[in-house]
Amino acid sequence: MSHPAWVMVSFLTELLSSYGGHGYNSNCANDTEIINALLKDSYNKHYLPSHPVHVRVDMWVQEVTSVSELTQDFEIDLYINEFWDDPALAFDYMNPCKTNISFDDKVLQKLWIPNTCFINSKNAAIHESPFRNVFLMVFSNGTLWTNYRMKLTGPCNMNLKRFPFDSQKCYLTFESYNYNTGEVRMEWNRPYPVMMLKDIELPDFELVNFSVVAVEQMYPAGWWDELTVSFVFRRRYGWYILQGYIPTMVTIVISWISFYLGSRAIPARTMLGVNSLLAMTFQFGNIIRNLPRVSYVKAIDVWMLSGMLFIFLSLLELALVGFMCRNEGLPPRVKKKKRTDDEDEDFSWKGVTQTSPHLELRQFWTDKRISSLRKDGDNNVNYDIPPEALALEPQISSFHTTSHRRKENMFRRVWNLMKRIKKIKAETVDFYSAIFFPLAYCLFNLCYWGYYLSDLSKVDLDADVTASIQEADAAAAAAAALLEASGSGVEPH
Ligand SMILES: *[C@@H]1O[C@H](CO)[C@@H](O)[C@H](O)[C@H]1NC(C)=O
Ligand SMILES: *[C@@H]1O[C@H](CO)[C@@H](O)[C@H](O)[C@H]1NC(C)=O
Ligand SMILES: *[C@@H]1O[C@H](CO)[C@@H](O)[C@H](O)[C@H]1NC(C)=O
Ligand SMILES: *[C@@H]1O[C@H](CO)[C@@H](O)[C@H](O)[C@H]1NC(C)=O
Repeated sequence: MSHPAWVMVSFLTELLSSYGGHGYNSNCANDTEIINALLKDSYNKHYLPSHPVHVRVDMWVQEVTSVSELTQDFEIDLYINEFWDDPALAFDYMNPCKTNISFDDKVLQKLWIPNTCFINSKNAAIHESPFRNVFLMVFSNGTLWTNYRMKLTGPCNMNLKRFPFDSQKCYLTFESYNYNTGEVRMEWNRPYPVMMLKDIELPDFELVNFSVVAVEQMYPAGWWDELTVSFVFRRRYGWYILQGYIPTMVTIVISWISFYLGSRAIPARTMLGVNSLLAMTFQFGNIIRNLPRVSYVKAIDVWMLSGMLFIFLSLLELALVGFMCRNEGLPPRVKKKKRTDDEDEDFSWKGVTQTSPHLELRQFWTDKRISSLRKDGDNNVNYDIPPEALALEPQISSFHTTSHRRKENMFRRVWNLMKRIKKIKAETVDFYSAIFFPLAYCLFNLCYWGYYLSDLSKVDLDADVTASIQEADAAAAAAAALLEASGSGVEPH
């Protein structure tokens, strides 16, 4: 009869005892007690927990949203983690039920923090939705762990010499803004200072590598620990191959059609050549438009300008063919007559060149004598040519003749060359062009792709990086000099 009631009672006692096992019976301090103890008034957030405080940093990369050539920067979403020990916050001695307690931003504001920031970011913000994305965990042994979720815009060293086969390096530098190496030592949290939460792939870039480095940097107020992470983004050049390289290649091949049209089709060939040149300019402009106006030669410039050169040369070939066929339609009699005309012209030219200096000089003196005779009407005065003039005359004339001869020789040589060219058939020129143009273009392609897709062109970039490091060293030396000069009183940092 009392059986069910007894069962009920024993169940209730068990329930109570199990509840007590968690909360009361095992004597451990619950969270409320610990939090009250931690945030008591005796904690001063301006005291450094130790000298120096060792802050270990690591980051988790969530997403990279853009890498921009025009503004030379990149946008990244990341979590940044910091760990340090604050003995004042240890609660081991209280015999806690839990070895760690999590808090939010409001508690963090009451504690000492190393005041770290990204010193080279163009823009940085902690995500605020729906509240400030800050996480704080206090371990029972006094270790603190903070985590911020941030959006950052950082600088990139854009070198477009290999564009579009380039890789770009982007940097973020993290340091304590307030505390120098005497107060806070920053270090990367080995062995995984940077973690990717997923593969980072943008439409035009992919993240291929990253590296971290910790350096001590000189400032007028002392030495600071700087943690720098660099991300290497490789451009995905598929788009440029499809939208730039293949169309221009096709345009150039089209310009060779002209060699097969024959020497009669000059208008059609001209149109083909000029259209190819225009198409090329258009394609070039299309790609160049979205790039900064750098003044060095990019890989795409080499490609496009060489393409234009090939089309220009095919137009020159057309001009040559046109020149050779100019008289082809005329009957041969006319041609012969023209040749005799040329010879007559040559002869008269020669005669003039040989006689003219003498003639001119003599004419001059004769004219002068006649005019003076007319003026004076006096026979006593001797109006002979002065002896200096006579002495000068042969020299001048000989000089004139040789220079004219030289000119004439040049003229003759060019004329002969042109005549010889005229003797070659236009078809022959077209035939050899149809062989040599594709051959030359293939050779160019071999060199181009060999150079830009191999490591050969990377040597240049490495040199640039060393140069920039040397610049940084020079800047540090200048800062050191400034520090010595100004003493240690100023703290502009
Ligand atoms: C924690 O302990 C305090 C006193 O020891 C008590 O007043 C409070 O109710 C406890 N809180 C919880 C959630 O158990
Ligand atoms: C925090 O404590 C809980 C138990 O209370 C444990 O499960 C968890 O792993 C701890 N977190 C860390 C980071 O140690
Ligand atoms: C404190 O505990 C955490 C988590 O268990 C650990 O990572 C950390 O190294 C400890 N700190 C010290 C100073 O022992
Ligand atoms: C990534 O960077 C490290 C160190 O800079 C280097 O040793 C490694 O070869 C790089 N990996 C790739 C795939 O480039």
